[in-house]
Amino acid sequence: MAVHEPRSEVAQETVVILDFGAQYSQLIARRVREEQVYSEVLPFDAPWEEIERRNPAAFILTGGPESVIAPGAPHIPEAVLASGKPILGICYGMQELARAAGGTVVPNEIREFGKTELVIDAVHAPIFEGVPGHSQAWMSHGDTVTDLPKGFVALAHTSTSAVAAMGDPERGWYGLQFHPEVGHTEQGRLVLHNFLRKVAGLKQNWAMSSFIDGAVERIKTQVGDDDAICALSGGVDSAVAATLVARAIGTNLTCVFVDHGLLREGEAEEVVATFRDVLHLNLIAVDARTRFLKALDGVVDPEEKRKIIGREFIAVFEEHARDLRNVKWLVQGTLYPDVIESKTPQSKAGAKIKTHHNVGGLPERMKLGLVEPLRLLFKDEVRALGRELGLPEPIVFRQPFPGPGLAVRVLGAITEERLAVLRRCDAIAREEIKRGADPEPWQYFAVLTPLQSVGVMGDFRTYSNMVAIRAVSSEDGMTADWSRLPYDVLQQISTRIVNEVGGVNRVVYDITSKPPATIEWE
Ligand code: XMP
Repeated sequence: MAVHEPRSEVAQETVVILDFGAQYSQLIARRVREEQVYSEVLPFDAPWEEIERRNPAAFILTGGPESVIAPGAPHIPEAVLASGKPILGICYGMQELARAAGGTVVPNEIREFGKTELVIDAVHAPIFEGVPGHSQAWMSHGDTVTDLPKGFVALAHTSTSAVAAMGDPERGWYGLQFHPEVGHTEQGRLVLHNFLRKVAGLKQNWAMSSFIDGAVERIKTQVGDDDAICALSGGVDSAVAATLVARAIGTNLTCVFVDHGLLREGEAEEVVATFRDVLHLNLIAVDARTRFLKALDGVVDPEEKRKIIGREFIAVFEEHARDLRNVKWLVQGTLYPDVIESKTPQSKAGAKIKTHHNVGGLPERMKLGLVEPLRLLFKDEVRALGRELGLPEPIVFRQPFPGPGLAVRVLGAITEERLAVLRRCDAIAREEIKRGADPEPWQYFAVLTPLQSVGVMGDFRTYSNMVAIRAVSSEDGMTADWSRLPYDVLQQISTRIVNEVGGVNRVVYDITSKPPATIEWE
């Protein structure tokens, strides 16, 4: 993981989130930014210089898997307590704040887990302004605060926790035993909003429109008069990164788009038209379809497919980049979740997405420096930035799409014909789902299975391909549920595919969640 190097900072007050190993640390940062307040996640033991560089205006201590009273448990740095800044402790963070400030934390007899009724006892506390007396909150803890530290008062309770929230208004230190960042906590957003605005008095000044100017300046300083290259994949991250860098260095940026023939219907044309004709970027479009098909000839194993595609992609990219003199920089669309020094293990999806972004080993081989203008942004911020930069909606709101493209959706051997069949089925499925499903699923597509089955069409017996449709709801691809598509939509997809696409006589719908299944079939 690309970590530990000093980052060029957004010159803005920051809510520093100290990560004690919570599952939800990134989510807290996203929620804070949704309140238009800039935030970053740092490990709980980050050196004070690291914290200070970020101009901290307030701290949030996250939850974590440990018990604050266990030997070797992670503790809040003294300097944070001494900083005089407002502090919000969540779950483990609250217990740690209580412990550090001189209170008592003991194991609870009953572990409290899941949804519970939160009762506010101090309705006039600034952190609970506008929060109803009773609401649902989401809890997950084994320990509990029994004696409050000096200066603190209890602000809320639940049936099993006498102190479900505590606060010291003098110092602006607050603790919440529940998780305000998760959707199940009904008033969570309001509580976070109150902490940021009413307790810490922070301005809502984090917006993509104001991010652009600073980012352009930073890129100009980094790249100077050198040339840079960027591999455009058609995805939103590389598209936004390239457009932002082009704002800074204009035609000194060359974009290379490798058409590996594994994109969806109309996609390659759209990328070329958008970047060349609408955004006027310096674009080299390489038609490498035959080369990739040849390399993939007869390959069935998905991992093998991925390896071949990665290798060919780098080879093609390198061949074209070599001709450009003076290139010193490679632009990549790395996002904040890949950068955070997380205390929790990276998921399979996260890790995968990263290897794709990193164009495997290229920077070292070509002796290129990295320009990663999105490394402090979350995906939804990248989309907002894309809109600000004038990128067309289909690119800004493009669904996640695997780097190896349709190669992982044509199961079994890949041929031109099978790709063409899948492309048509996929276009039909996407068209019908977009038109008929509300809410629109997070990701949806067709898969060409290696199965053939018997059918009957007119007076003829058929023996042809089976296509599967996948549509899921998800937040980030790490977990997903299958979408309850209306029967009419499924009906329309099935009828159209079987009637319009030769070689397909059966359509099935995938009703498995992730876990235990994955989103892609491979
Ligand atoms: P799975 O199949 O692991 O996919 O449940 C989770 C999410 O990741 C996408 N995906 C990829 N994205 N390169 C990518 O950039 C890849 O190799 C890759 N494989 C899967 C997938 O579409 C889903 O959104």
